[in-house]
Amino acid sequence: MSALEGELIIGRVLAWATRKLECTEISRPDFEAQYLLLAVLHINTAALFLSLENKMSARQAERFGTMVGRRIQGEPLQYIVGSVEFWSKNFHLTPDVLIPRHETEFVLEQTIALLKGRFPCPKKLRLLDMGTGSGVIADVLAGELGCHVLACDISSPALAVAARNIAEHQLENRVTLVCSDLFTAIATTLKFDCIIANPPYVAEHEKQELADEVVQFEPGQALFAGDDGLDCYRRLIPESYAFLHSGGWLMLEIGASQGEAVSVMLRDAGYQNINIRSDYCRRPRFACGRKQ
Ligand SMILES: C[S@@+](CC[C@H](N)C(=O)[O-])C[C@H]1O[C@@H](n2cnc3c(N)ncnc32)[C@H](O)[C@@H]1O
Repeated sequence: MSALEGELIIGRVLAWATRKLECTEISRPDFEAQYLLLAVLHINTAALFLSLENKMSARQAERFGTMVGRRIQGEPLQYIVGSVEFWSKNFHLTPDVLIPRHETEFVLEQTIALLKGRFPCPKKLRLLDMGTGSGVIADVLAGELGCHVLACDISSPALAVAARNIAEHQLENRVTLVCSDLFTAIATTLKFDCIIANPPYVAEHEKQELADEVVQFEPGQALFAGDDGLDCYRRLIPESYAFLHSGGWLMLEIGASQGEAVSVMLRDAGYQNINIRSDYCRRPRFACGRKQ
């Protein structure tokens, strides 16, 4: 940023950052520079374009320079800014939690449609979100359906992020957070109408195919599940059965190549109405099964 000292005109600072990011492998340096600048200035895109001739403060410029430096080092934008938009809501993020993906919005669309279609009074549903991370699934379901969600994660730092999001969206009375390794800390007397999970499902050997910024910055515990990526489903699918009411559903986000294997696991664990659905890119991403 020192090259710009004394002339902190917003448009010029933006051009400086774009040039810096162009020297990396980032595919949209202009977009990313703008994204970071909007976060520093706390304005929207329209206001930014009306402000290009204005000056920014030295403090804002310094903060922006630090953010651009972090991005050049490969850190994901969402961790640098500390938030992400998901389901048209703003969620706080730290590197303790996975950055929520669009695939999970698809899983939520399917879940909400299925629950609304099958249960006449969604407000009365009792749901469990296993592996809540930043809390996005529990938060959206509690908000959209008006029901209660028990949200679990093995990671206490992740639960702290979820707690902040739930509080910011004023859903504390509908979402309860619990630290648990799958069901180990859940009372066996509890039963749910739906258990939903986006568990870790990447195979260890796929690590080298992931973007560096994913492997380097996102929590491994949220991503990897053994040699074939199915380890978490191997426990979750049979263990969920005992925690479902009769007629209750298990809904899962799955890796695009895991439909067949997950269907077999669901069948072997006794689920009925097994269904694998593909997302808008025609990749199987959603699996569900019903307890008889
Ligand atoms: C793929 S992330 C999903 C986060 C969030 N639900 C989302 O969709 O963005 C998986 C989450 O499962 C949690 N997790 C991994 N193993 C777990 C286990 N044995 N018990 C509970 N949670 C676990 C991780 O800490 C992580 O937050």
